[in-house]
Amino acid sequence: MSENPSLEQLSSIVDDLAEQGWSLQPAFISQTLTLELAQECRKRAAQGALVPASIGRGQGLAVQEGIRGDRIQWLEPGQSQACDQYLAKLESLRQAINQGLYLGLEDYESHFALYPPGAFYKKHLDRFRDDDRRAVSVVLYLNQEWETGQGGELRLHLPGGGVRDIAPQAGVLAVFLSADMPHEVLPAQRERLSLTGWFRRRGDSVL
Ligand code: OGA
Ligand code: MN
Repeated sequence: MSENPSLEQLSSIVDDLAEQGWSLQPAFISQTLTLELAQECRKRAAQGALVPASIGRGQGLAVQEGIRGDRIQWLEPGQSQACDQYLAKLESLRQAINQGLYLGLEDYESHFALYPPGAFYKKHLDRFRDDDRRAVSVVLYLNQEWETGQGGELRLHLPGGGVRDIAPQAGVLAVFLSADMPHEVLPAQRERLSLTGWFRRRGDSVL
């Protein structure tokens, strides 16, 4: 069994979100669990379970490699011990964010993502025109020994006009407010793995 996130870690994410709309945590997830999740992502990729990601929802759903070139597979509870451990940690984070920020986060959805060399995801917001349930984006990176010069950074476009580039280094957790933070994935020289997800609020309308 792995340990629960500490109260310090949880409140540092909550405080960062309140103050600046994003947070970076190098040690929220242990290297052991990160390694297990990376192995699971590779195993799923080798089995052909990862499929080209699409943009939008419903009838607007389309695969557009000119916008995003990653391959994904959605996570379900009960698929593996490593995934369930990750989901349990994210559940503590959901509760801490609700207690600190009153966002009314109701659930969490996430997928493994694999960007082949050269793939990218152009600047976007994590919200769909017809669904604004996604409130907080969370990305865990799964790449051992990512080096400067290999690209693949997550580029946050900050409200003040600047940018912040985050290397997709194993174990780093990036958290940001989905509606306020345009972001993009820069092309990488090597394969880039992550576990990307969203805390969602209750839907206002029945589709
Ligand atoms: C996404 C996304 C960022 C990343 O999947 O919507 O923006 O760093 N991912 O993988
Ligand atoms: Mn995104």
